[in-house]
Amino acid sequence: MKVYHDQDIDARILNGKKVAVIGYGSQGRAQALNMKESGVDVVVGLRPGKSWDRAVADGMRVMTVVEASKAADVVLMLIPDMVQPIVFQEEVAMGLTEGKTLQFAHGFNIHFKQIDPPEGVDVVMVAPKSPGPEMRRQYEAGFGVPALVAVAQDASGHAKEIALAIAKALGSGRAGVIETNFKDETESDLFGEQSVLCGGVDQLIRRGFKVLTEAGYPPELAYFEVCNELKLIVDLIYKSGISGMYRAVSDTAKYGGMAIGPMIIDDAVEENMRKALKAVQDGSFAERWIGEADSGLNEFRRLLEECENLEIERVGKEVRRMSGLEE
Ligand SMILES: NC(=O)c1ccc[n+]([C@@H]2O[C@H](COP(=O)([O-])OP(=O)(O)OC[C@H]3O[C@@H](n4cnc5c(N)ncnc54)[C@H](OP(=O)(O)O)[C@@H]3O)[C@@H](O)[C@H]2O)c1
Ligand SMILES: [Mg+2]
Repeated sequence: MKVYHDQDIDARILNGKKVAVIGYGSQGRAQALNMKESGVDVVVGLRPGKSWDRAVADGMRVMTVVEASKAADVVLMLIPDMVQPIVFQEEVAMGLTEGKTLQFAHGFNIHFKQIDPPEGVDVVMVAPKSPGPEMRRQYEAGFGVPALVAVAQDASGHAKEIALAIAKALGSGRAGVIETNFKDETESDLFGEQSVLCGGVDQLIRRGFKVLTEAGYPPELAYFEVCNELKLIVDLIYKSGISGMYRAVSDTAKYGGMAIGPMIIDDAVEENMRKALKAVQDGSFAERWIGEADSGLNEFRRLLEECENLEIERVGKEVRRMSGLEE
């Protein structure tokens, strides 16, 4: 696997080029600010509203999506995946003349054929492996988060150089930029967020909290045990691997973790992960999610509300407020 760092990337290909960031949410804000501070000529494309006001307050040049797409040489699609196809069709496509670059932060709409870019443009991806606000924090601290780059269409013959130059401007060249393709990024990203990162970890915490509190332990104690301390354990794994984490915990925790862990996350869970991966690969998850978005996001909103109303959310908020972590 090829990994690029700052010294391997010549960012001069962006000289004289204008970059439009469409959207100013989690990724849009972080990417626009990082690129601007790296010396890139950035404009933000939005509709009037909250994001527009925030971008103006941050000192960004803001215009409509149509104007930004016309003005820019490189257009970054940083609005929600389910909104991208219609905005692309109605507001971006007309400005995407031959020789320009269309860039994504996730391969979904290209891989699952929801967006069909014209032939004369480069289609690339720079996918930071981090939430936007964390990406911004790392950049401000002089570091960066890793990113994946990929090329789906190379009309100019320079598509990869452009993607790498943007990744460098985002700060990702300090952490490492890995070359991949749209299929692998899309499928591994969806699997990761469903099975381990967001979905897996969420269910692990929810169920651990439920079991402890149902057995009569105080909710605050349960919160500290199965949620708050998770960060400290994950930080150890992040810095020194799984065995590095085990080296730092007690022998009792080492033995208990390794002997009982496989009974908790067992073969049935692994089989479920395989099913989730298959649904990603055969497109049935994408079809379900697109259908949900098309039919008004009712299940989506119900799930969010259910999560917000969990007992652990109430207790956690209180504990975090008392310990000064949250207002
Ligand atoms: N979240 C992450 O950390 C992350 C990580 C890696 C990759 N990605 C990828 O990055 C892309 C962006 O995701 P995100 O989570 O950053 O999105 P997001 O925060 O949900 O995007 C919200 C932004 O999109 C704007 N927007 C929504 N509909 C719009 C419309 N019709 N016209 C113009 N602007 C519109 C919103 O403006 P308003 O205020 O006007 O609604 C807001 O500025 C996705 O492809 C995602 O998969 C995200
Ligand atoms: Mg994702």
